[in-house]
Amino acid sequence: MKQDMIVILDLGSTENTVVARQIRDMGVYSEIHPHDITPEELAKLENVKGIIFNGGENRVVDGEEVVVLDALYDLGIPMISIDYPQSKCETKYATLPTDEEMKAFVFDVCKSEANWNMKNFVADQVEIIRRQVGDKKVLLALSGGVDSSVVAALLIKAIGKQLTCVHVNHGLMRKNESENVIEVFGNQLDANLVYVDATDRFLDKLAGVADPEEKRKIIGGEFIRVFEEEARKLEGIEFLGQGTIYPDIIESGTKTAKCVKSHHNVGGLPEDLQFALVEPLAQLFKDEVRACGVELGLPAEMVYRQPFPGPGLGVRCLGAITRDRLEALRESDAILRDEFAKTGLDKKVWQYFTVVPDFKAVGVRNHERSMGYMCVIRAVNTIDAMTASIERIDYDILERIADRITAEVPSINRVVYEITKKPVATIEFE
Ligand code: XMP
Repeated sequence: MKQDMIVILDLGSTENTVVARQIRDMGVYSEIHPHDITPEELAKLENVKGIIFNGGENRVVDGEEVVVLDALYDLGIPMISIDYPQSKCETKYATLPTDEEMKAFVFDVCKSEANWNMKNFVADQVEIIRRQVGDKKVLLALSGGVDSSVVAALLIKAIGKQLTCVHVNHGLMRKNESENVIEVFGNQLDANLVYVDATDRFLDKLAGVADPEEKRKIIGGEFIRVFEEEARKLEGIEFLGQGTIYPDIIESGTKTAKCVKSHHNVGGLPEDLQFALVEPLAQLFKDEVRACGVELGLPAEMVYRQPFPGPGLGVRCLGAITRDRLEALRESDAILRDEFAKTGLDKKVWQYFTVVPDFKAVGVRNHERSMGYMCVIRAVNTIDAMTASIERIDYDILERIADRITAEVPSINRVVYEITKKPVATIEFE
């Protein structure tokens, strides 16, 4: 790592990532580490220019207040503390320092250089990946989502054909999604890409299954089986690439904060498939991952795309999935996305999609009574997906979308707009 670093020690703060972002936004790299880091461990982190002891409400663990090792004070590295009463630093803050105060510490006291940028990050990671992997081979499950796409592009830059990407099409992808993965990674970036069309296999397993959890379980379990079968066909793979990002690690729990949710990217791979992990995005926040994708030359649609659930359209084709309803869902979703792109709503709205419930309603087509599916439009805004508000879409736009969907998707004869917040609803329907 050539870049200067400010280390944040977590003494129970709930705002470690806020401080890390504050410093990274000044162009200086920062990382969060546990409060009980030793001088030896600190020495292994290269270019540490300053340390911040960051206390807070989670400071009591097993009935005792957490403290840093006294030996840290003798390292001769500039230090400040925030909300840490036992601090022996020169400078102590009771609450988060202002940007000006933080700049004074980072630049004037620590003499850090503002050299944290994506160009340097990519150059560093290419070197680190090459060192880690040597002449061995790496396998990556490439869904086409932001994280796996950026990891793939980074690994291709670092080790080229030593990487094999496996793209499993579970038949629940959006329109043209798998085709785009093949175009970008197979054709443009000339990657070793194994494309598996497992549509029939997934849809056969899902036939008649209406329970949402059961559907998720089948999709997740089948994905692992398909991926494992492909992995076993390949020889000499020693590493598994993963799109783990910084929030995944932080949300999985620290020594002071409880786990928010445990993340596993390819989770549950069988133990006899033994790989070492390559996780080059593990220190990046989501917007930094996107910036990294841009730096690597990935198309904007891929880098800035909205979140899409792992089980894909499977959780939006409500109840037991049928092929005709899945097709109606895929087509209506493509029309919605097209119209959002035309009106610029795609840049404004956090997540937007269609849902097709498993019932038919009466309608009139060609002067005759006909039964058709209903298409639900959902468009929500959120910061952390824990709560969400609805986007107030202009009625003219909604009407145009409804007209297009009913004209271009013959099996749909009604379009409704969903206006429920999370909570009491969730973002997805299943
Ligand atoms: P809910 O429906 O729980 O969704 O309000 C919150 C966010 O998570 C996404 N989501 C999923 N993502 N696998 C995923 O990778 C899933 O099974 C899954 N379920 C929901 C959802 O799209 C929304 O962004």
